[in-house]
Amino acid sequence: MYICMCNAVTDHDIRREAAAGVQTFAELQARTGCSDCCGSCDSEARATFDQARSQVICQLPLVSA
Ligand code: FES
Repeated sequence: MYICMCNAVTDHDIRREAAAGVQTFAELQARTGCSDCCGSCDSEARATFDQARSQVICQLPLVSA
Protein backbone atom coordinates (compact mmCIF):
# COMPACT_ATOMS: atom_id res chain seq x y z
CA MET A 1 0.00 0.00 0.00
CA TYR A 2 1.29 3.44 -0.84
CA ILE A 3 1.98 5.58 2.21
CA CYS A 4 3.60 8.52 0.43
CA MET A 5 2.01 9.26 -2.90
CA CYS A 6 4.39 12.13 -3.70
CA ASN A 7 7.42 9.85 -3.67
CA ALA A 8 5.79 6.46 -4.27
CA VAL A 9 6.89 5.03 -0.92
CA THR A 10 4.99 1.96 0.26
CA ASP A 11 4.57 0.39 3.68
CA HIS A 12 6.79 -2.41 2.40
CA ASP A 13 9.53 0.13 1.60
CA ILE A 14 9.31 1.52 5.12
CA ARG A 15 9.45 -1.93 6.72
CA ARG A 16 12.38 -2.89 4.51
CA GLU A 17 14.33 0.21 5.55
CA ALA A 18 13.63 -0.45 9.22
CA ALA A 19 14.81 -4.04 8.80
CA ALA A 20 17.95 -2.73 7.09
CA GLY A 21 18.81 -0.75 10.20
CA VAL A 22 17.30 2.68 9.66
CA GLN A 23 16.77 4.04 13.16
CA THR A 24 15.29 7.50 12.73
CA PHE A 25 12.50 9.01 10.69
CA ALA A 26 14.95 11.59 9.32
CA GLU A 27 17.14 8.79 8.01
CA LEU A 28 14.09 7.14 6.45
CA GLN A 29 13.26 10.41 4.73
CA ALA A 30 16.81 10.77 3.42
CA ARG A 31 16.78 7.24 2.02
CA THR A 32 13.28 7.15 0.54
CA GLY A 33 12.06 10.73 0.21
CA CYS A 34 9.04 9.75 2.28
CA SER A 35 7.15 12.76 3.64
CA ASP A 36 9.51 15.37 2.24
CA CYS A 37 7.06 17.03 -0.16
CA CYS A 38 3.46 17.90 0.78
CA GLY A 39 3.67 16.23 4.19
CA SER A 40 0.15 14.80 4.14
CA CYS A 41 1.53 11.30 4.71
CA ASP A 42 3.62 12.28 7.72
CA SER A 43 1.52 10.81 10.52
CA GLU A 44 0.86 7.52 8.73
CA ALA A 45 4.49 7.25 7.63
CA ARG A 46 5.72 7.84 11.18
CA ALA A 47 3.26 5.31 12.60
CA THR A 48 4.28 2.71 10.02
CA PHE A 49 7.96 3.35 10.70
CA ASP A 50 7.51 3.20 14.49
CA GLN A 51 5.64 -0.09 14.20
CA ALA A 52 8.30 -1.50 11.87
CA ARG A 53 11.09 -0.41 14.25
CA SER A 54 9.27 -2.06 17.16
CA GLN A 55 9.09 -5.32 15.25
CA VAL A 56 12.80 -5.13 14.41
CA ILE A 57 13.71 -4.48 18.04
CA CYS A 58 11.55 -7.42 19.19
CA GLN A 59 13.43 -9.72 16.82
CA LEU A 60 16.88 -8.82 18.16
CA PRO A 61 18.51 -11.66 20.09
CA LEU A 62 18.80 -11.29 23.82
CA VAL A 63 22.36 -11.01 25.09
CA SER A 64 23.22 -11.81 28.66
CA ALA A 65 26.34 -10.65 30.45
S1 FES B 1 2.21 12.17 0.22
FE1 FES B 1 4.12 12.03 1.20
S2 FES B 1 5.02 13.97 0.96
FE2 FES B 1 3.14 14.11 -0.14
